[in-house]
Order: sequence, then C-alpha cells, then structure tokens
Amino acid sequence: KKVVLAYSGGLDTSIILKWLATEYGCEVVTFTADLGQGEELEPARKKAELLGINPDSIYIEDLREEFVRDFVFPMFRANAVYEGLYLLGTSIARPLIAKRLVEIAQATGADAIAHGATGKGNDQVRFELSAYALDPSIRVIAPWREWDLTSRTKLLQFAEENQIPIAKDKRGEAPFSVDANLLHTSSEGKVLEDPAEEAPAYVYQRTVAPEDAPDTPTYVEIGFEKGDAVSIDGERLSPAALLTRLNELGGANGVGRLDLVENRFVGMKSRGVYETPGGTVLLVAHRGIEQITLDRGAGHLKDELMPRYAELIYNGFWFSPEREMLQALIDKSQEHVEGTVRVKLYKGSADVVGRSSPASLYSESHVTFEDDAGAYDQKDAAGFIKINALRLKLLAARNKRIAD
Ligand code: ARG
Ligand code: SIN
Repeated sequence: KKVVLAYSGGLDTSIILKWLATEYGCEVVTFTADLGQGEELEPARKKAELLGINPDSIYIEDLREEFVRDFVFPMFRANAVYEGLYLLGTSIARPLIAKRLVEIAQATGADAIAHGATGKGNDQVRFELSAYALDPSIRVIAPWREWDLTSRTKLLQFAEENQIPIAKDKRGEAPFSVDANLLHTSSEGKVLEDPAEEAPAYVYQRTVAPEDAPDTPTYVEIGFEKGDAVSIDGERLSPAALLTRLNELGGANGVGRLDLVENRFVGMKSRGVYETPGGTVLLVAHRGIEQITLDRGAGHLKDELMPRYAELIYNGFWFSPEREMLQALIDKSQEHVEGTVRVKLYKGSADVVGRSSPASLYSESHVTFEDDAGAYDQKDAAGFIKINALRLKLLAARNKRIAD
C-alpha cells in the first residue's frame, strides 16, 4: 500500500508520516507545496529523509503562480466573500493541494492520499471532495479521525518513541493553529477559543497594528485586464509577484485584519483571526474598476450570485459543475473590466480614490450638474417615474379604501 501525504514538515504531519508507516504499514510519499506560506521548504525535505522517506518519494513544489493565477484570481473576479467578511484564504488553497496529491498518487502508483486536517473542520471536506471529484477511485486516510493519539501528551509520546524531533516550543501546548499562504494567514483555536476575548497582539503575523502604521498614507495604482490585476504603479507583474507586493504594502499599513466567528460546513461555529493584506487591497481595487466598467444589470446579477459562489468555495465544491457554471458567468462579465485604480492605504483602511478605463461606461456628459448640451432630457424622467409609480399608487389607493 502506498499513500501520498500532504506534508508540512511540522510536528503534526511528521507524526502522521510515522503513524502511516507503522500503524498502516504504508509506503509514504510526501508532498510539500510552497503556496507562499513564507517557510523554507528544504527543512521539510531533510525531515522527511530523516524519518525514512526515500528521496525519490519526496515531492517539493513551488505552486505560488498556479495558486494565484488559477485559484485566487478567478475567485477575486467574483469578489467572493463568505458571510460578509471572510476572503476564503484557506478555502481556496485546499483544492490545489488536493489536485497535486491526486496527480502525484497517479504518477507514483499510490492508491491513497492522506492529510492532517481534523475531523471537526472544513479542511477535511475540501481536501476530500476535491480528491474524489478528480479521481473517484482514490482512497483517503485522515489520521485525526482514526487514531487514538487524542491528547498532546499522547502525540508527544508517540513522537518520542519514533525519534521524531520536537522543537522546544512544541513541548508545551501550541498556543493556536495557523494556516498561511500567499493570500492569508489564519489563526484558530486555543487562546482564540473564547469569542468574547480580544485576540492577543502576538496572534498577528503579517500586518502591523493599524495604530502603529505610518502617519502618512501610501498610494498604489493597480492595473486590471479582464478582471485580473496585472500591474502595480505601471510595472507589469506575474500574479504571485503582484500579490506579494500588495501584501507588503497592505501589511505595512495595517490593512486586512479580521476577527470573525463563522459557520463551519460541519455545523459548529468557530472563531478565527485572519490577515489578508494584499487580498483586501485587491478586492477594494477590483470593485473600483468594476464601478466604471460593469453594466448595472451584469454587476447586480454577479453580486446576487456571489454569496452562492463563496459558499461553494467555503464548503469545498471548487471542482463541481455548479462552481464552474458560475465561473463561466463571472468570467464573461469580466471581458471589459480593465483600466487602473488608485487605492489609498492608511492605518488599516484601503479606499479607492481614483479609477480610469479605456472601457469606461461612466459618462460625465450624462451625469453632470452643469449644462449637458442635450445628452439627457430631464423631461423623459417624468414619464419614467409616472409609469413606475402606477402600481404603487393603485396599492396605496386600495389600502386607503379598505382602511376607511
Ligand atoms: N476557518 C478557516 C476556513 O475554514 C481556516 C481554517 C484553517 N485554519 C487553521 N488555522 N487551521 O477556511
Ligand atoms: C482543522 O480542523 O483541521 C482546521 C480547521 C478547519 O478545517 O476548519
């Protein structure tokens, strides 16, 4: 039996690695991806080797460009936000990891994949729905749902018995659980479990506190083509380079912090602290360019569908026909979403202060308070209002009649 494990190199997935080998008697292939979490990957290779993995069975890949180009950007075309606030930083990374796990399983003749998500969360659902959608015969092993290592003490004991190195700071209770990539850092659990208590300052890892951000604003100009950001201050950048740059600018200005209690797909509420500096700037800028390039009907329709689309991603249905159908609609709407947006970053806020586009629908001659030289005949509005008012008048008259 052979299994491909999503391996971070950390303590928990190292324990899973050994557990798969000893308890399941599996041959283990490890897969470690750089999604922009800001950690070196070579230590994960060293550690996998140390734990007895054959060097040919260690897969380490830089997926940053694919992540932003094929997952983050399509999602941002929809302005997707879950429950009004969450920018889906973890949710959108899972399908890509699952896709590579399945592909590596196929390439190495493995019949199973394994992941380190718990049985209580969303991530298990996302990994597994994605994997089954891509390979209906794949098997999934989720150790957290199976093993009897149900306490920190038992985990550490298992690690010691199996010569798994334990970093000093991991001997005590880990303070909270973190998931990071180019789009966001999420923190959950432990010190954050009481939603009445403010998150301690040390939870935040990639944004300065708004109150400590510079006293002078930073302006950034973002260029768009077909709904995707393509340049910053006139410089064309690859998707991952662009998001990296926006993260630096947003993070330095305290932009993109969120403290949220959300509804997990499995039913319970959970409290998370999120930092999405570049994504927050991107969302604001994308809405800014849509303001002048999207027709009202098109814009309102995609906004109505957005919560559905966001929920599909949150719930793990990236690889589903309904997500792809919505994507086709959203992508169609973006054909002329092009131009530049100026965003002002200041002490935690990101605001559009200017937008321009060769495909703009904004007509100053129609909207102006000055003489419009016949562009719009104000007399036409009288009939427009009269006809729209007809049913309201009939209704008001009926209500008056039955009240009398
Ligand atoms: N609640 C977020 C989501 O479901 C993040 C989950 C993973 N985060 C973590 N710290 N383990 O997308
Ligand atoms: C986990 O349970 O592994 C992380 C949290 C989540 O998936 O929602």
